[in-house]
Amino acid sequence: FRKEDNHHLANTKIENNSYQPKNQEFQKLLHNNVGNQIRFVGLSEEDIMNLAEIRPIMERNAAQIVDAFYGKLQDMPNLLTIINKHSTIEKLGKTLTQYLLDMVSGRIDENYVIRRKVIGNVHNRIGLFPEWYIGAYTLIQNEMLHVLTRELDTWEEVMKYYISFQRLCSFDMQIGIE
Ligand code: HEM
Repeated sequence: FRKEDNHHLANTKIENNSYQPKNQEFQKLLHNNVGNQIRFVGLSEEDIMNLAEIRPIMERNAAQIVDAFYGKLQDMPNLLTIINKHSTIEKLGKTLTQYLLDMVSGRIDENYVIRRKVIGNVHNRIGLFPEWYIGAYTLIQNEMLHVLTRELDTWEEVMKYYISFQRLCSFDMQIGIE
């Protein structure tokens, strides 16, 4: 459906029957210890491709997502204390931007999992408890939904890309708090 006029988009889908090589690195993950977690959140190769497609959107809008994120964090005195003790909003803005771009790189492999584990350990070390870490993903997801709604023409697309984004967020959370 187009968002503006709700016209049905019948027959506008182009079937893509061309051979698509398997994403070998991702396939490997399915066979190691995080395989069940990936299956549980429903993350697939298609999601990873979807996310790679919206890389330009992320590049254009990461700053907005990051600003909304730290704007909200700063409202919470306990979180602000942790931030000021260990870092600065400016530095964290850069690392979060990098993090967001990593989600849309199209490469979800063993190294990606290791990078996520390291990030989880960092937050554990600074005493950020999982309830706050997980809650913070809602901020990113909400902002991402705003961005996708503005950038894309149809609700169908918004849903498609948002669901892929949500799945990867869930996977990242799982790795981050384990
Ligand atoms: C560090 C992402 C939530 C505070 C980092 C880093 C990343 C990141 C990528 C850099 C890690 C590294 O140095 O290797 C995220 C994501 C979050 C999240 C994706 C949730 C969606 C939070 C929250 C706080 C926070 C809620 C609130 C206190 C910090 C601090 C550091 C940090 C203080 C720097 C730690 C240090 O260098 O000693 N975060 N973060 N983060 N994060 Fe977060």
